[in-house]
Amino acid sequence: MAKKTSPAIWGGRFTAGPAELMLQFSESVSFDRRLAAFDIAGSKAHSAMLASVGLITAKERDAIHAGLDAILAEIAAGNFTWDTALEDVHMNIEAALTKRVPAAAKLHTARSRNDQIATDMRLWLKFSAGVLAGKIAAAQRALLALAKANRDVLIPGYTHLQRAQPVPAAHHLFAWLEMLERDRARLADVAAHANWCPLGAGAIAGTTLPIDREYTAKALGFTDAKGRPQVTPNSMDAVADRDVHIEFATACALFGVHLSRIAEDLILWSSVEFKFVEMADAFSTGSSLMPQKKNPDACELLRGKSARLQGNLHTLLTLVKGLPLTYNRDLQEDKPAIFDSYDQSALCADVLAGVLGGLTFNRERCAAAVADPALLATDLADYLVLKGVPFRDAHHAVGAVVQLAEKSVIRLDQLPTSEVQQIHPAFGADWVQVFDLTRALAKRTGPGMPGPAQVAKQFKRWEKILA
Ligand code: ARG
Repeated sequence: MAKKTSPAIWGGRFTAGPAELMLQFSESVSFDRRLAAFDIAGSKAHSAMLASVGLITAKERDAIHAGLDAILAEIAAGNFTWDTALEDVHMNIEAALTKRVPAAAKLHTARSRNDQIATDMRLWLKFSAGVLAGKIAAAQRALLALAKANRDVLIPGYTHLQRAQPVPAAHHLFAWLEMLERDRARLADVAAHANWCPLGAGAIAGTTLPIDREYTAKALGFTDAKGRPQVTPNSMDAVADRDVHIEFATACALFGVHLSRIAEDLILWSSVEFKFVEMADAFSTGSSLMPQKKNPDACELLRGKSARLQGNLHTLLTLVKGLPLTYNRDLQEDKPAIFDSYDQSALCADVLAGVLGGLTFNRERCAAAVADPALLATDLADYLVLKGVPFRDAHHAVGAVVQLAEKSVIRLDQLPTSEVQQIHPAFGADWVQVFDLTRALAKRTGPGMPGPAQVAKQFKRWEKILA
């Protein structure tokens, strides 16, 4: 070649290379290098396919594979030199390979960085969704252990942050288990949606070369339950689509919302006003000024991080909205947001497990809080209903009983039966039995309710799910 061209891998039609500022501005290797293992897996599968269809020789394939393995080992050992002038993870690895293996010049046959990055990210998403789901399961196991250790503890359940009705603490903790289980299910959906191989879509319109897309899909594990390869059905959509990225960020954002609600309950419960629980020193912090303080910082950060997870989702939605098909460089900006969603969610899941593992219930405080007979006012209305009183009338009558107790500054269950009967004649001599907590819970026998038989069932169910 006589003419002077740009040193960039794509530089054939350029006479000069990019400005230093442009390199700094456009590089992504500082954050996409974490895709290296997936990029190399993709290149090995791609070169194996090129050999299988005769576009490269078996010898060239083997040289490429050996070179890629050596590069991966170097990266894992921290000895690989990343160069921002080479823009991204793809070109850093290709350049390193080219230095070692002449056949590397054939690796990019029938491939574009557009289908390459789409493939790398789908591999990463499948893997990361699985790891995150595993971490959430570990937090769920800590939750189940906490429920088991406090099987006999009752607490008030709240609506409007006002004491509502008594529940076993385990029933409340099981509610959190349900939330986290849905998070795991969503992550499994993300992994399933990511399980389609874009490789072979090329830059936008495939290739004229006789490639075998099913081969690569199979080699990379993009297969259905029966082992059949799954390839993306439209080459333009394959390189433009970021839906599954957004779904992953959605799963993380919703996980964050759950974390935040769990954390908020724990912050309230650990306050002196409630004092239902004590957090382990290991996940609490002190005040630099007030020596008496023990602050629930771990939970506050779980709550705070959820804002960040929502922000990442918003970034991705805004990034993709309004982009013309197909690939646009804007899409490179998907990675910082999505990697951050993973990193923060993974960290939060670990911290949640740590917080729950160190939590102790204050039995006296819980017992005192749940002993308020007013929590069973609804049960008293149900008592009247069973005596044939229409619920609306029963509700009204019990309201009057509550008002009487408040006025007389007396516990609800200490009111004289004669006065209660003046409010409604259907109250019998046995009305006060309603306030027996054990009896009240035993009556809640229906599915999903906090009665002891149902709670026992849920313990069994969760043990099975989380085994
Ligand atoms: N670093 C790029 C990204 O993350 C890879 C794809 C680049 N494709 C291109 N045509 N410049 O999106």
